Amino acid sequence: MRMYDIIAKKRDGGELSDEELAFFVKAYVRGDIPDYQASALLMAICLRGMTPRETARLTLEMEHSGDTVDLSSLEGVKADKHSTGGVGDKTTLVVAPIAASLGVRMAKMSGRGLGHTGGTIDKLESIPGLRTDLPRDEFLRIVREVGVCVAGQTGNLVPADKKLYALRDVTATVESIPLIASSIMSKKLAAGADCILLDVKTGSGAFMKTLEDARTLAQAMVEIAAHAGKRAAALITDMDRPLGNAVGNALEVMEACETLRGRGPADLTELCVELAAGLLVMTGKASDFTEARTLAQGQIENGQAFAKLREMVAAQGGDAAALDDFRLLFAPVVRYEVRAGEDGFLCGIDTERCGAASVELGAGREKKEDAIDPSAGLILRKKPGDRVRAGDVLAEFFAASESQCRTAEETFRAALRFGEAPPEPRPLIFDRIGF
Ligand code: URA
Repeated sequence: MRMYDIIAKKRDGGELSDEELAFFVKAYVRGDIPDYQASALLMAICLRGMTPRETARLTLEMEHSGDTVDLSSLEGVKADKHSTGGVGDKTTLVVAPIAASLGVRMAKMSGRGLGHTGGTIDKLESIPGLRTDLPRDEFLRIVREVGVCVAGQTGNLVPADKKLYALRDVTATVESIPLIASSIMSKKLAAGADCILLDVKTGSGAFMKTLEDARTLAQAMVEIAAHAGKRAAALITDMDRPLGNAVGNALEVMEACETLRGRGPADLTELCVELAAGLLVMTGKASDFTEARTLAQGQIENGQAFAKLREMVAAQGGDAAALDDFRLLFAPVVRYEVRAGEDGFLCGIDTERCGAASVELGAGREKKEDAIDPSAGLILRKKPGDRVRAGDVLAEFFAASESQCRTAEETFRAALRFGEAPPEPRPLIFDRIGF
């Protein structure tokens, strides 16, 4: 088999066979295919697409390109949740404890922030002492004993995605639905859960800018899971504005705690209850969404979901007292206010730019090796739809220096759209796929 022929076949719109896809993934991971040939194939896939069978086959080959996690020693249904990424998305910190407090085993592997989007591992690491680089046996023990553990990806999990993602990043081939679907699902399948709930984001802060693309991606991922003999389902949710009010690592942990105490922002609370309900329906803990929402809401009201987060944090070596006394995790050097210049309505926020402002404050990385400032970030005091008077605080910034705040203010102001009337309301949850 020759890589040249595989590239030419896809260039001409052909369908690659199982053997060709297996050859490509295995030989590329071994280092036998040079990056220029892999790039040519990725670009051909971007332009020509893939059939559902090809996408599923590519995913399974990627899944098995390295280690996989075996969760079979844990009793019961094991579930995982994945968000395609956004700004202010701290739902895992709320949803995983709710589901675990109702008996769903949440064995969750999470990532770090990518570009303008935040990552759960960075958020958790703002809790003093908390470890996310857990050896496999410790990860399994915590899931068995506590019911939930959120760890970083350790070991040699899906090396094919590590290599391919790095290549896509520099060859303008990230924006391909089959490539995104196979990248995400290869990692989710390798992480071993039986049920995978996908939160596919759409809007200005998401990879999928249009609802149509978000639906296509969700459908592709649900089909891949079915090919692999696993269950996946998706919610399509809004990322045209940041989720909740807090953007930044410690700030988001604090907002997640407030949400688990029943005092969270309305949009974040609604989405977390809906995602937890999705997990309860998928794992058979509830017969429909109405029952599941009531169960999930009940775990917030009775304090059991928050107690579960505390238990998880302590099991992972973190100081659970920081979840009650935020001074233990949040100590910004500078607090800075951004105020409105004139009266009107806040009509929209370019969410990607808002995420970029939080990175400039120190909450994310501009380069892979950059350190994160756990206390950095922003709190939105106005959201789209709100009336604004001149002089009102639009957002509070937290950073290590005033100059970071001034740079971020420019980016943030450019993200805001004002008008004389409020915008049309936008749904938070657009669709459910695969339930
Ligand atoms: N997230 C991933 O893990 N992979 C992609 O290709 C895009 C987003």
